[in-house]
Amino acid sequence: MRRQLVTGGAGFIGSNYVRHVLAHTDDAVTVLDALTYAGNEASLAGLPPERMRLVRGSITDAALVDSLVADADVVVHFAAESHNDNSLADPSPFVQTNLVGTYTLLEAVRRHGTRYHHISTDEVYGDLDLDDPARFTEATPYNPSSPYSATKAGSDLLVRAWVRSFGVRATISNCSNNYGPYQHVEKFIPRQITNVIDGVRPRLYGAGLNVRDWIHVDDHNAAVLAILERGRIGETYLIGADGEKNNREVIELILTLMGHPADAYDHVTDRPGHDLRYAIDSTKLRTELGWTPRYTSFADGLADTIDWYRGHESWWRPMKAATESKYARTGQ
Ligand code: NAD
Ligand code: DAU
Repeated sequence: MRRQLVTGGAGFIGSNYVRHVLAHTDDAVTVLDALTYAGNEASLAGLPPERMRLVRGSITDAALVDSLVADADVVVHFAAESHNDNSLADPSPFVQTNLVGTYTLLEAVRRHGTRYHHISTDEVYGDLDLDDPARFTEATPYNPSSPYSATKAGSDLLVRAWVRSFGVRATISNCSNNYGPYQHVEKFIPRQITNVIDGVRPRLYGAGLNVRDWIHVDDHNAAVLAILERGRIGETYLIGADGEKNNREVIELILTLMGHPADAYDHVTDRPGHDLRYAIDSTKLRTELGWTPRYTSFADGLADTIDWYRGHESWWRPMKAATESKYARTGQ
C-alpha cells in the first residue's frame, strides 16, 4: 500500500482521481485542499475514512506541506486556480497557487526525496489554427495565451528545472479538456447543462467555432495512474482521447440530448484572447504505457454526464447563482 498525497483532491479532476485510486489500488490517500470556491467536501462524501482523509490547507503553506510530504510515498499535484475567465478578471490567485504553490511542493519533495507527479494542461502550448492538421506533441514549444495557462506553463518549467538541477523524481502530464461528474458549474459543459435544467438558454462565446479536445475525466485519471506506476522519471506525457469538437457542436448535442431544439442558444461576448483550437497527439502515452480511453463515444459520455447533473442538483445548486452573477458582470 502506498500513501498518496493528492493536492486539490476536493476539486473536479482531483475528487474523481481519489475515487479512481480507491477503486483500483490498495493505496491510502491524504487530500490537501484549500476548499476555495472550486473545492467541495461533498465531492468526497461517502469515501472510507480509513483510506481517505481530507486536510484543509493551502499548498503555499510551507510548514503544512512539509509535514504532509514527509508522510507520503508519492505526491500527485492537481491543486490549481483552473478557470481562464477568472484569470482574466484577477490573475493574482493564479500566480500564488499555480506558481508559488508548485514551488512550495517541489521544495518539499526535494527535501524528502518523494516521487512527484505534476498535473498540467494542453493550454501551455497555446492554440492551433482551425484548418491546421497539426496536433500538440511533447515536442511542441510552450506558447501560453491567458494568465491561467501562463502560470501553468511556468509551473511545468519549475518541475523540469527541479528534475534536472536537483534530481527530483517527477513526471508531468498535459491533458486536454475534461468532462464528467463533479465539475464546477462555471465550466462550459456543466454550465450549459444546468442552464438548460433551469430553463435558461445556453451561452456560446463569440461564433462558437473554437475547438476543444474532450476527454472523460475517468480516462484522464486512468492515464495519471499509469504514468505514476510505469512512467519514466523526467518525462512529459500528453493525455488526449481524439475528442475534437467545436463549441457549437457541443452545445447542440447537449440541447438535443436534453430534448430541446438544437438551435435554442444565444451568442454572447467572446472571451478576450480566446484560444482557437486545442488538439492532442497521445501516441507516446498509448505506445509506451499501453493506455487507451474507455469512453470512445462523446455522445454517450455526455449523456451520462447530463444524467449525473440531473441526479445531483443538491451538489451543484449551492454554487449556481453566485457563478451566474459573476458571468453577468461581463455580459456572458
Ligand atoms: P478545480 O478548479 O475543479 O479544482 C481545483 C482544486 O484545487 C479545488 O478543490 C481547490 O479548492 C483547490 N485549490 C485551489 N487553490 C489551492 C491552494 N492554494 N491550496 C490547496 N488547494 C487549492 O480544477 P480541475 O478542473 O479539477 O483541475 C485540476 C488540475 O487539472 C489543475 O491543475 C488543472 O490545471 C489541470 N487540468 C484541468 C483540465 C480540465 O479540463 N479541467 C484539463 C487539463 C488539466
Ligand atoms: O484544455 C484544458 C483546459 O480546459 C484546462 O486547463 C482548464 O482548467 C479548463 O477550464 C479548460 O479550459 P477552457 O477554457 O477550454 O474551458 P471552459 O470550460 O472555460 O470553456 C470551454 C470552451 O467553451 C471555450 O472555448 C470557451 C467556451 N465557453 C465557455 C463558457 C463557460 C462558452 O462558449 N460559453 C461558456 O459559457
